[in-house]
Amino acid sequence: PTTAVSHRPVAHFTTRDTWLNDPNGLLYYEGTYHLFYQTNPHGSTWGNISWGHATSTDLVAWTEHDIAIPFTADEMAFSGSAVVDVRNTAGFAGPGQTAFVAVYTSARPPRDDEPASQSQSLAYSLDEGQTWNRYEGNPVLDIGSSEFRDPKVFWHGSDDGHWVMVAVEAVARRVVIYTSPDLISWTRASHFGPAHATDGVWECPDLFPLSVAGTKDTRWVLIVSMNPGGIAGGSGTQYFVGDFDGTTFTADRLIESDDPTTYDWLDYGRDYYAAVSFNDVPDGRRLMIGWASNWDYANETPTHPWRSAMSLAREVTLVPDEEGIPRIHQRPVLPQDSSALTSFTVTVPCAPGDRQTLVLSAGGEEHLAITVDGDHRSITSDRTRSGATDFHPTFPSIDRAPLPGADTTEVELFVVVDATIVEIYVDGGRVTLTEQVFPSEPFTQLRVEGEARVGRA
Ligand code: FRU
Repeated sequence: PTTAVSHRPVAHFTTRDTWLNDPNGLLYYEGTYHLFYQTNPHGSTWGNISWGHATSTDLVAWTEHDIAIPFTADEMAFSGSAVVDVRNTAGFAGPGQTAFVAVYTSARPPRDDEPASQSQSLAYSLDEGQTWNRYEGNPVLDIGSSEFRDPKVFWHGSDDGHWVMVAVEAVARRVVIYTSPDLISWTRASHFGPAHATDGVWECPDLFPLSVAGTKDTRWVLIVSMNPGGIAGGSGTQYFVGDFDGTTFTADRLIESDDPTTYDWLDYGRDYYAAVSFNDVPDGRRLMIGWASNWDYANETPTHPWRSAMSLAREVTLVPDEEGIPRIHQRPVLPQDSSALTSFTVTVPCAPGDRQTLVLSAGGEEHLAITVDGDHRSITSDRTRSGATDFHPTFPSIDRAPLPGADTTEVELFVVVDATIVEIYVDGGRVTLTEQVFPSEPFTQLRVEGEARVGRA
């Protein structure tokens, strides 16, 4: 039998005592980061889906607030995004007020003669996110589909710009793009996909610009989550780099191969899904948070009374690789007080013939093994003996990522451990692996088999 693990992450957001899945409505406003999320107010498994709400000033210490958008008898509030309507385009704000507007998916079950439906709806807040009202004209975008969800909305252009929504037609494996002057009336502009990984349904898209490091270029990044069929099995997140002109996204490269290892993946572990970015972060920084779980076993992970955590917030940048192809790099936002978390920086040799294993443990038998293999140019994470693993047959996994670069002879790993979550950043976050573990005691020690250089961060 599986025992519930009592250790709770400190820097990864968890709810007090409920179920958690996707991050929603990530928004920065006047010094505060808002994190909304899919939650079940009445339980620790998926159901009654509503938007929960938490805030933070440092992206590490989060305060949980009242439910923002509750489920109703008619609908669950599926994933979506939030904007600050500074131009009051929707007209929700009165004099002196600023409206936050959430764009969420109204998920309605089949009823009487009506089939199941997913359409896009609005809720607004006039008190900086504390209390929310559903818009009376909901839904604002209904195409008669039961698989149309996860709207990410952002403002494109300056004062004469417009709102852009990216959403998915999940089963068609298509990202659809709509535009609007006011968040209320939407016009279909274009679509992207199917492309690259299509073994699962497409979910939770995001689209944002990033400057390419060391150049004057800006490229657009399209994020597409997919379940199942992710690179490590189950849920996973891929990305495309390209151009966006306000209505249409065009990928720079589309790979004509069925081999999923040739596509761009945001993370190679089992537990990084539905990642989306914050709107309105100052200074052009792009910060993302993902759900650190996997639909394969999310409902069965052995924690109580909470279930699932968010990833650390990650700053993403685009850096050209040795062939000049822009690749996403990720860097976690860490607590000011580094003693709050266990983390290590390790430089590991990876020339042909090198093979090193880093063993993360609490000193006992339970461990996570990270192996860098110079012959296969791979890094693997093995959690098969990491503690509680028997709650689901797909949990005890060995996950594999490519070593970045063609012929480097050493690689730097940054490993963050926070009770049930391990995040591994390879070579400045060019490759990442995110993994849940459920040891009986948190892993705080790193033993190196071989001769890597370890610094305790
Ligand atoms: C992704 C997802 C979304 C949906 C939400 C429901 O994990 O399936 O597509 O909106 O979860 O909770």
